[in-house]
Amino acid sequence: MAHKRPTVSRETTADAARQPQQPDFNDTPIAAAAARASQVLTPGASGNLPRPPELRVITVANQKGGVGKTTTAVNMAAGLSLHGLGVLVIDLDPQGNASTALGIDHRRPDIASVYELLLGEVSLREAIQKSPSNENLYCVPATLDLAGAEIELVSLVARENRLRNAIAHETLAEFGIDYVLIDCPPSLGLLTVNAMVAAREVLIPIQCEYYALEGVGQLLRNIELVQAHLNPQLHVSTVLLTMYDGRTKLADQVAEEVRNHFGNKVLGTIIPRSVKVSEAPGYGMTIIEYDPGSRGAMSYLDAAREFAFKAVAAEGVQ
Ligand SMILES: Nc1ncnc2c1ncn2[C@@H]1O[C@H](COP(=O)(O)OP(=O)(O)OP(=O)(O)O)[C@@H](O)[C@H]1O
Ligand SMILES: [Mg+2]
Repeated sequence: MAHKRPTVSRETTADAARQPQQPDFNDTPIAAAAARASQVLTPGASGNLPRPPELRVITVANQKGGVGKTTTAVNMAAGLSLHGLGVLVIDLDPQGNASTALGIDHRRPDIASVYELLLGEVSLREAIQKSPSNENLYCVPATLDLAGAEIELVSLVARENRLRNAIAHETLAEFGIDYVLIDCPPSLGLLTVNAMVAAREVLIPIQCEYYALEGVGQLLRNIELVQAHLNPQLHVSTVLLTMYDGRTKLADQVAEEVRNHFGNKVLGTIIPRSVKVSEAPGYGMTIIEYDPGSRGAMSYLDAAREFAFKAVAAEGVQ
């Protein structure tokens, strides 16, 4: 049986006049993303960010698992480094996800990692690796050995200060580092305490989901304890809302609740939930490398920019 030919509706002259004669390919979402990507990746196109008046050491912490700590640490780092700033990510989680996302092979048996650094067996200089993502981006990787460190550290002298003592400032200066971001594991154990003693600022990523603020009270109490006994300079400088899904009312409610709680510490930029963001680490890339024109990349770039300018403005006021 012959197939029935589809009926083609005849356009009237008025209809034809309303249609563009040539399809405008620049209006397609893919073309727009490509234009954004080339803008992002053209050196200097979006301008350099201001250097902080002094080295900023930030611990990215939240003992709740899967809230976007690692994603935030590596992508903020990538955003800052893209704008000409020197950034070091210290991976303090035995899972080694930050190392993976920064393209560092942390499963090689012979690598000097943060574990050896904490035990004093290697220097910072020996443990630093350059990320293939960016000229200005470095990482101290984590290996599975770190899983035993929580217990091994207990018997060591100055066990809470190991990381702080290991971060040699002359090495940071030599590598031109302006920012150190420490990616914490999802616990409040000795590794996180080491990160809090080594840093001056805490960046708390909060997922726009049910029970977002669950456990945050406990985190804040721990920060106060570290501040009182070990590191008087420590403070929460920044809160970043992550995995925002604009289709749900809940996401807006969480965002509002977090803003009521933390006020202007919350960055205006919110990171949307996006499949691309979760795909990037599987390719050993940051989202800015993996899909520079995507919403996820743009939002982390915006967050990095806001983060850099906010601190410089705050220093200016003091
Ligand atoms: N904006 C986002 N959109 C979609 N997926 C995301 C986003 N941010 C993070 N993810 C994904 O959510 C998961 C948890 O994120 P991530 O590993 O950054 O959290 P974490 O707080 O470091 O977790 P952990 O507590 O295990 O260390 C990962 O699979 C990550 O790829
Ligand atoms: Mg993590």
